[in-house]
Amino acid sequence: MFSFGKKPQQDGVRLDPDRIPAHVAIIMDGNGRWAQQKHRPRVFGHREGMETVKRVTKYASQLGIKVLTLYAFSTENWKRPTGEVNYLMQLPVDFFDTFVPDLVKQNVRVQVMGYTQQLPEKTQKAVQDAIKATEKNDGMILNFALNYGSRAEIVSAVKKIALQVQAGQLSVDAIDEQSVAQALMTAPLAQYSDPDLLIRTSGEERLSNFLLWQLAYSELVFTDALWPDFGAAELKAAIYTYQQRDRRFGGLKK
Ligand code: IPE
Ligand code: IPE
Ligand code: MG
Repeated sequence: MFSFGKKPQQDGVRLDPDRIPAHVAIIMDGNGRWAQQKHRPRVFGHREGMETVKRVTKYASQLGIKVLTLYAFSTENWKRPTGEVNYLMQLPVDFFDTFVPDLVKQNVRVQVMGYTQQLPEKTQKAVQDAIKATEKNDGMILNFALNYGSRAEIVSAVKKIALQVQAGQLSVDAIDEQSVAQALMTAPLAQYSDPDLLIRTSGEERLSNFLLWQLAYSELVFTDALWPDFGAAELKAAIYTYQQRDRRFGGLKK
């Protein structure tokens, strides 16, 4: 577990306990390259990436992060070979099978955002069971983006709002940023809907259709570490970088 305050850390980095980002979102990238570097099939990287999720969840929860959102499968990832997609659909089953008791112990609550109805039955069931098993936990929310795509999410939100207008429940003039935020998949996260910090691993510096609305004022941190190599030290380094930033939200420096 990390300690804060006066005590210097082994690596010399000290986090400010008062400025831990409440919502951290991660684009977990680089599993395939990690495996290829080891001359193993891509799915070997996905398997190892699952272990990273376990480690990072534990440290994030110990740090006092309120919401950890992990991009696990995008609406565009269906373009991959069937074998890889099938493997990725089995992973949540294996992950929750082995990890739910730990999540309960860590007081972590599982949530999922995305077009889950399009997932195979077994994946949907694994997800629903994990949500149910952890619903009473009031610690960190572990929010998986599964078959998630931000453009599709925005289209769905626009349709939802149009239907409300059509039904006479909402006037066009009353549509504001809050009504849009309410119609997005992050609405259940309430005051934590927008990530404070976005991390992407593997050296790629793009959003790949992730949380386009919600990231408007997030701090972005890119690291070359491939996801299976990411761990407590890398998470801590990213939060340290975040703590050096001056968030102005369009205003002036404090
Ligand atoms: C991230 O790793 C996992 C998913 C996108 C599901 P990748 O599979 O994208 O790994 P690279 O980017 O090909 O190395
Ligand atoms: C983004 O990674 C999606 C997830 C991490 C789930 P990709 O590997 O799919 O993104 P691109 O194709 O490099 O943009
Ligand atoms: Mg990738």
